[in-house]
Amino acid sequence: MKALILSGGKGTRLRPLTYTGAKQLVPVANKPILWYCIESIVAAGVTDIGIVISPETGEEVKNKTGNGDRFNANITYILQDKPAGLAHAVKISQPFLGDDSFIMFLGDNLIESDLNKFLNSFQQKQLDALILLRQVDDPTAFGVATVGSDGKVIRLVEKPKQPESNLALVGVYFFKKTIHQAIANIVPSARGELEITEAIQKLIDTDQNVEASELEGWWLDTGKKDDILAANQIVLDARLKSQNLGTVDTDSNLSGRIAIGIGSKVISCKIRGPVIIGENCYLENAYIGPYTSIKDRVTIISTDIEHSVILSDSKITGIHQRIVDSVIGQRVLMKVSPKRPQALRFLVGDDSQLEIM
Ligand code: DAU
Repeated sequence: MKALILSGGKGTRLRPLTYTGAKQLVPVANKPILWYCIESIVAAGVTDIGIVISPETGEEVKNKTGNGDRFNANITYILQDKPAGLAHAVKISQPFLGDDSFIMFLGDNLIESDLNKFLNSFQQKQLDALILLRQVDDPTAFGVATVGSDGKVIRLVEKPKQPESNLALVGVYFFKKTIHQAIANIVPSARGELEITEAIQKLIDTDQNVEASELEGWWLDTGKKDDILAANQIVLDARLKSQNLGTVDTDSNLSGRIAIGIGSKVISCKIRGPVIIGENCYLENAYIGPYTSIKDRVTIISTDIEHSVILSDSKITGIHQRIVDSVIGQRVLMKVSPKRPQALRFLVGDDSQLEIM
């Protein structure tokens, strides 16, 4: 058994963050989304993992994630020269996958449930494919399945305008080697991609064994800003443990679960957990409210912020009008002059969003 994580693609929905970085590396509770995928695969006992990367962000994914040692896994990187679809990613990974069965995990999906029970059922029933489904409010944004009363999958359609059900395909799939033949028999869809949904439909149409299981627990497809904030909230709620490896002065007032990384300094701050603060951060005279994740080397002075995710090396000073529901990228400078501002001065990249309310 092997695993294939898809960490290529363009990440257009998370622009501007994804102009400069891979969306799979955006941190949730200060850990890249991709790393949660690796950890759940390893927890299911699968350690031979291929990661599909793109020419634009592949180096960053490789440098941050490494050869797998930190996860007790063996990682092979597979370059996909263009984002030509999920089935295309499997096709180019065939030399790595060989004849093995494999778990395919979309590198922007986060799930609570562990994979063991699905893997066991896939192996025991000797299925050609096992897909995971979840009821959603807006199925048009997903692959959508129609399932018969016997649990067998009848039909899969990618992002249908008029969905036949509210059962969305979760980005975790289990495949036998028969998927390769199915992929060889499909052509690019109207949006120019080789769709994995169509390949699975080929398996169904040729009477192979395709079953679906409904996923329990939370599932997050971290494609957009609000998904990142929701994922951050859920993961901080479910998994954050208090730890202080930094220094906190006696004027500060901390309550709730708070993790502070090595080398970080907290001076005259009020922090209400759950909050995670990375390494070598400097926080002074700030209010940090619940569900905030602050990555490494961030400076926050005289600022109020809550329910937000701040990436590394950013500096925020003098903003007492509370910052909420925000995702702030790497190396961002946000500053309000200590005197009452007479004017606002910006250097703002394409597709940035500023709401001054
Ligand atoms: O999240 C679940 C949904 O994921 C499913 O319901 C859909 O059926 C499935 O097609 C997929 O839809 P998305 O529109 O969310 O896929 P996205 O383009 O975001 O790609 C998912 C992951 O795969 C992401 O980490 C990028 C990576 N990828 C994508 C493409 C198109 C690749 O590595 N190579 C590619 O060519």
